[in-house]
Amino acid sequence: MSGRFAVGQDARIPALARLRPGRGLVSEIVFIAKETDPNEGRVAASPDSVKKLKGLGFDVVVETGAGFLSRVPDAEYEKAGARIGAIADAKTADVVLKVRRPNSAEIAGYKSGAIVIAIMDPYGNEDAVADMAKAGLSAFAMELMPRITRAQSMDVLSSQANLAGYQAVIDAACEYDRALPMMMTAAGTVPAAKIFVMGAGVAGLQAIATARRLGAVVSATDVRPAAKEQVASLGAKFIAVEDEEFKAAETAGGYAKEMSKEYQAKQAALVAEHIAKQDIVITTALIPGRPAPRLVTRDMLKSMKPGSVAVDLAVERGGNVEGAKAGKVADVEGVKVIGHLNVPGRIAASASGLYAKNLVTFLETMVSKETKALALNMEDELVKATALTHGGAIVNPNFEPKKKGDL
Ligand code: NAI
Repeated sequence: MSGRFAVGQDARIPALARLRPGRGLVSEIVFIAKETDPNEGRVAASPDSVKKLKGLGFDVVVETGAGFLSRVPDAEYEKAGARIGAIADAKTADVVLKVRRPNSAEIAGYKSGAIVIAIMDPYGNEDAVADMAKAGLSAFAMELMPRITRAQSMDVLSSQANLAGYQAVIDAACEYDRALPMMMTAAGTVPAAKIFVMGAGVAGLQAIATARRLGAVVSATDVRPAAKEQVASLGAKFIAVEDEEFKAAETAGGYAKEMSKEYQAKQAALVAEHIAKQDIVITTALIPGRPAPRLVTRDMLKSMKPGSVAVDLAVERGGNVEGAKAGKVADVEGVKVIGHLNVPGRIAASASGLYAKNLVTFLETMVSKETKALALNMEDELVKATALTHGGAIVNPNFEPKKKGDL
């Protein structure tokens, strides 16, 4: 693969800088873009991450207003050592950090050979991946980061899902017309809300913890047997048909696999009975590479008390709850079904801080310790797993455009 930052190329480059023909000694530039999607409140840098990037030897340019919706004014970035710039500065950048995949206008504003790191959402967006390849970008998808110990601090799925799980409970509490904790007052007792969390991965476990802190009576379910102990350790009750299939369900990577029709039917019956007694249901169930499993039917919603609430965190992947509407709070059989999009973006200031840390830790692996210059190693495990495009080509075969010969 002939890339701009080929393996070993940078060993000869002086510390903190590289000599560029006609431009003298200049540091490499990281550009922090302002997100173009009006619904995206997050930003790809925090004052802390800017300091770290400076420490790595980069010049940092932040597009003016980039941190506005995450409550980071330009002045905070400046204090951390960044220069405030405009969109036109993207053209000079060796690295562009973003939250979302750049659109075609943004791509046109980057220089060929630039590294672009974002949550790329490549599934079903093969043409957009091809555009980045054509533009000569080295594009990396943070969500493809392997879930190994070395990459834990770069795991954007975890950092963002954790906050989404928290926010799901807060959103549910806002729509729920009653209190969550039990309150014993002179005027009588308010009972604790019953909250059922479906899917006890990163988001679900945080939802359980948050609901417990708010005083709710919490139960949870998952198809992965390993989740049972985690749910119990947070003080919630585990609800599942624990047959042989369940015991064998955990795959090597720790992710869920699709269960048999028989298991799904038995589990659905158990869940239906349980849901009828709940006030709030929060669903977070996902299966990597597949549409979200449908877990809550219209009939189950009908069985709940009036004013009950369901939060579908899987709504962007097809939804766990029947009748959930992406981007809306829908009334389904008297239950408020919350289908907010981009839930981590609803808690943007916190989400940006963690995302920025994920990014800078990953970028650090691309910088040579000796020369403090970019030294992209395409053979590195993390680089290999996350790379979509490099050297003018798509390097992840999963995201080749459907029709051959497009490039
Ligand atoms: P996810 O977002 O893909 O799915 C969420 C949850 O939904 C999972 O726990 C899954 O088992 C569950 N689910 C799927 N189908 C279901 C169904 N029909 N009914 C009920 N639940 C269902 O998963 P997430 O949260 O990204 O991570 C899952 C697991 O991956 C973690 O709990 C952990 O074991 C592992 N992990 C490992 C990491 C590491 O090693 N660095 C980091 C994060 C997670």
